[in-house]
Amino acid sequence: MTELHLWLRHEARTTERRTPIVPDDARRLVGDGVALTVEESPQRVFPIEEYAAAGCHVAPAGSWVSAPRDAVVLGLKELPAEPAELTHRHIFFGHAYKGQPGAGDLLRRFAAGGGALFDLEYLVDDSGRRLAAFGFWAGYLGAALAVLQHRGRLRAPLAPTTKEELDETLKPAAGDSAFTGLVIGALGRSGRGARTAFATAGADPTCWDLAETRDLDRAALLRHDVMVNAVLATTPVPPFLRERDLDTPGRRLRTLCDVTCDVGSPLNVLPVYDDTTDWDEPVRRLREEPPLDLIAIDNLPSLLPLESSADFSAALLPQLLDFGVTGPWGRCLDRFRQASREHGLGTPRADR
Ligand SMILES: NC(=O)c1ccc[n+]([C@@H]2O[C@H](COP(=O)([O-])OP(=O)(O)OC[C@H]3O[C@@H](n4cnc5c(N)ncnc54)[C@H](O)[C@@H]3O)[C@@H](O)[C@H]2O)c1
Repeated sequence: MTELHLWLRHEARTTERRTPIVPDDARRLVGDGVALTVEESPQRVFPIEEYAAAGCHVAPAGSWVSAPRDAVVLGLKELPAEPAELTHRHIFFGHAYKGQPGAGDLLRRFAAGGGALFDLEYLVDDSGRRLAAFGFWAGYLGAALAVLQHRGRLRAPLAPTTKEELDETLKPAAGDSAFTGLVIGALGRSGRGARTAFATAGADPTCWDLAETRDLDRAALLRHDVMVNAVLATTPVPPFLRERDLDTPGRRLRTLCDVTCDVGSPLNVLPVYDDTTDWDEPVRRLREEPPLDLIAIDNLPSLLPLESSADFSAALLPQLLDFGVTGPWGRCLDRFRQASREHGLGTPRADR
């Protein structure tokens, strides 16, 4: 019987309706002997009553700061700015190991309090593959928004919705003309999601992955109406599109959705724009004649909070049932210690 005490926190970001553990999986954790405290949260897509019915303890939003010291605090996105000293072990996406803004501050808060970060981005199997990720629904939404834009049916601002509602708008309607779609990174999680959304929209896209981009045929790329980029770039490769490609005479490409959103990174395969788009203004026009529209939203899965949460939670559950300081969690801890050293903060023990 495990003695793990998990504390599912309220998300500080008001637009974040997702959760890393859904009530059905909470019930599995409780059944396995995990003590699970769930904070009340006005925007979480699952009501607190469902967690209570699953056997979880209920606590006020933000009360993790005074949780027992051995509790492991679970969330998705950033912590609030206070307290200055983080004494607990935390599981969430810290975005703190690649020199992101605020990275040093977060690591210093852990160093000051003696806590530790198990960063979900670094929860990987023996071969380095992510164990819990939101990719499928990112790709699904990316392709769905691109198709809606292409058909003149995308309405801003975007807001969280359900798959049923989204699919209703995505289904081909009378008067919709046929188009050609392209998914790059088609074999990955996001790529599969994009292919599924294209199918719902009645389209059968061209699918490229590593083999098809090794000797990149940009002319062929530009002969598609709608393109979705869903690659996970780990080493620099020649860009899929450069500024001058957008001015190629006869370009057929009209709608480009960059799910990857590596803008500003040396690994960026689409250096044709400088900034992401967002829910308020999802589309930016890159060229007028003929038109070329860009969608580059970096929080796509939050638009389908229920499906994204269920998918993510299903992947995270077996890992939580096996929580410890070896295996994937041990690798997370090693990465945290390495980042702390890189910031001159010494090597945290964090081995409770
Ligand atoms: N915009 C968002 O909201 C959002 C959300 C989640 C993930 N993402 C991003 O989406 C990207 C994909 O994530 P994933 O979970 O699908 O990754 P994944 O590892 O499951 O799949 C990536 C795919 O890209 C392919 N690939 C890599 N380099 C390529 C190249 N040069 N040419 C063609 N194919 C190539 C891989 O072979 C793999 O099939 C990541 O960059 C991730 O950060 C974005």
